[in-house]
Amino acid sequence: MNILLLGSGGREHALAWKIAQSPRTDKLYIAPGNAGTKDVGENVDIKATDFDALKVFALERDIQMIVVGPEDPLVNGIYDCFKNDVATRNIAIIGPSRIGARLEGSKEFAKHFMQRHNIPTARYLSVTAENLNEGLAFLETLPAPYVLKADGLCAGKGVLILPTLAEAQKELKEMLDGMFGQASATVVIEEFLSGIECSVFVLTDSEHYKILPVAKDYKRIGEGDKGLNTGGMGSVSPVPFADSEFMEKVRTRIIEPTINGLQEEGIIYKGFIFLGLINVKGDPMVIEYNVRMGDPETESVMLRIQSDLVDLLEGVHQVNLNERSLVIDPRTAACVMLVSGGYPEAYKKGFPITGFNLTETTDSILFHAGTTLKDGRIVTNGGRVIAVCSYGEDKEEALENSYKAADMLSFEGKYFRRDIGFDL
Ligand code: AMP
Ligand code: GLY
Repeated sequence: MNILLLGSGGREHALAWKIAQSPRTDKLYIAPGNAGTKDVGENVDIKATDFDALKVFALERDIQMIVVGPEDPLVNGIYDCFKNDVATRNIAIIGPSRIGARLEGSKEFAKHFMQRHNIPTARYLSVTAENLNEGLAFLETLPAPYVLKADGLCAGKGVLILPTLAEAQKELKEMLDGMFGQASATVVIEEFLSGIECSVFVLTDSEHYKILPVAKDYKRIGEGDKGLNTGGMGSVSPVPFADSEFMEKVRTRIIEPTINGLQEEGIIYKGFIFLGLINVKGDPMVIEYNVRMGDPETESVMLRIQSDLVDLLEGVHQVNLNERSLVIDPRTAACVMLVSGGYPEAYKKGFPITGFNLTETTDSILFHAGTTLKDGRIVTNGGRVIAVCSYGEDKEEALENSYKAADMLSFEGKYFRRDIGFDL
């Protein structure tokens, strides 16, 4: 089958790497892809949100399946756009319908959904300019710190955690006043939960589901989880505290009510569900839903899926995922992200990357996150540049392997954290 994968980051290179291994894949295209994805497929210069151009391309190249990497096309309704068009309705779209994608696209929708289906999550109140006073009063009932979330997509920047009531009340007003534009016209105020987080990935065909390997990501730029938030500095899978007892709670209290809830509400969802969970004294609670795979969790998770991913995705499309097999590699996988100097603030692009030949002597797998080709050379093209991924018998060994390969790659300003997995 001919497959089109949408996106251009490390997550997409990892998905492309896995999809390309399938005997069912005839031709793999990545739109727009990066300098790494072109080694496992053919890059196509179309934006992941340009549905008209994607339709023309899909028909021209006889695409049978579209795998959607990032959230934007899903929240913008790519599923419905293809399904509502007689010319493209038979193409499998791996991802939820527009309404299903609201689980990520609207924090308010996600919280109301969890409330309707009794899914454990932090107490909250949804606030607009109309009930600002109620919001200010709700904050007074909560202990510090205070969590404010812009309702809409803000490229990962829409969550503020404030240490004092005064700051929380001030920021609430500013958010409603347009701090994040229309995305913060509604704000969800949440009770702060403390615990350790993990990412649980579920693949569903809307009736059946499979739980993919659990991972933990490291979001802060600095070691010890200090400093500014980033798109993710590394990941590890599996997560030791997500043991069978914990995962049974996740399954019965969160995954099944989520799948059943979607079904009861008639929401079509054929794709990945990413549960951002927090372990509160042994009990999993949902911090957020995402409607796609995580980045850089995918880079570790794909290493641990032994089965044919395309077979599983076909099961999603045909609603017989229960008949497909998911075998998970017992080894640990770890990903270390090499980033540009200055990231997540201002940084320069276009620096040549060297040392790829040295890493060929290792067993590490490199997924490109922000790279491009310039005059035949691979150069930096983003804040996150390369995800260095390795297997190990345990996380120490997997990380040691990744650090070794990370040291072999060079580009001006290269930075990475040397403490991935420190809290596990
Ligand atoms: P989100 O964009 O919803 O993932 O939030 C970003 C980060 O803020 C999460 O990964 C958590 O670390 C933190 N966070 C969000 N909600 C809460 C909460 N209710 N309690 C504690 N931390 C939270
Ligand atoms: N790693 C978190 C995310 O992909 O949103």
